[in-house]
Amino acid sequence: MLAILGGTGLTNLANLTITHRQVIRTPYGEPSGALLFGNIAGHEVMFMARHGYGHTIPPHLVNYRANLWALSSQKATHVISVSAVGSIDSNLAPGTLVIPDQLIDYTSNREHTYFDTPDHRVTHMDFTEPFSHVLRAICTAAAKKSSIDVKLGGVYAVTQGPRLDTAAEVKRYQGDGASMVGMTGMPEAALARELGLEYLTLAVVSNYAAGCAGNLHRIEGQEVYATLERAMYLVRGFLEQVVICFHD
Ligand code: HPA
Repeated sequence: MLAILGGTGLTNLANLTITHRQVIRTPYGEPSGALLFGNIAGHEVMFMARHGYGHTIPPHLVNYRANLWALSSQKATHVISVSAVGSIDSNLAPGTLVIPDQLIDYTSNREHTYFDTPDHRVTHMDFTEPFSHVLRAICTAAAKKSSIDVKLGGVYAVTQGPRLDTAAEVKRYQGDGASMVGMTGMPEAALARELGLEYLTLAVVSNYAAGCAGNLHRIEGQEVYATLERAMYLVRGFLEQVVICFHD
């Protein structure tokens, strides 16, 4: 089954007809909230709000292990993870939807693996390509069908947060090859791989990152949220097409 993880700006899916909610207990503690089960365009999907339904859990305190374990325990096989990002690339204007194909992990002190219990053999999982090819193909088809402009490719730099970046940090990410920066892609992507889930980030550009374009001196929070709110209209429409293409 397809699961959608909603990020900042996406604590609910207006086009999801909810059939039931389930609180899942996990060996890793509490997930961000109950899992919602329902239908989009007549197809069953699962939804969870990564930051909680009241948007109260900051990126560094999200229990990524519990969230993904919960999805997997309810037979999710594919996960689309929606994440707000700042743009480091002039081709990615605020409001753009983008599907990155790579990431760089700058996070620290997050519970980032399931493979660390004494009964587990040391495992070095392949992570050359962090995102699912299957979901990328489905999203590409959905973008064509819906005529929603979704940019394909890009490197997602994942930072610890919850503060935004300094201009010098953004320059460093750019030098490292990043095209966008956000706070939630890791360890989520790696944990999904450890569980054998097909996983893909749908990034929503909420602002130019610190020091980029007009944001030379500061980033205005209100503008960021206003941009995200507008973009979520597109995201909901796009996800509906993704659900349809997933079942085609
Ligand atoms: N930096 C880091 N994370 C973000 C940003 C940003 O500019 N915008 C949204 N998430």
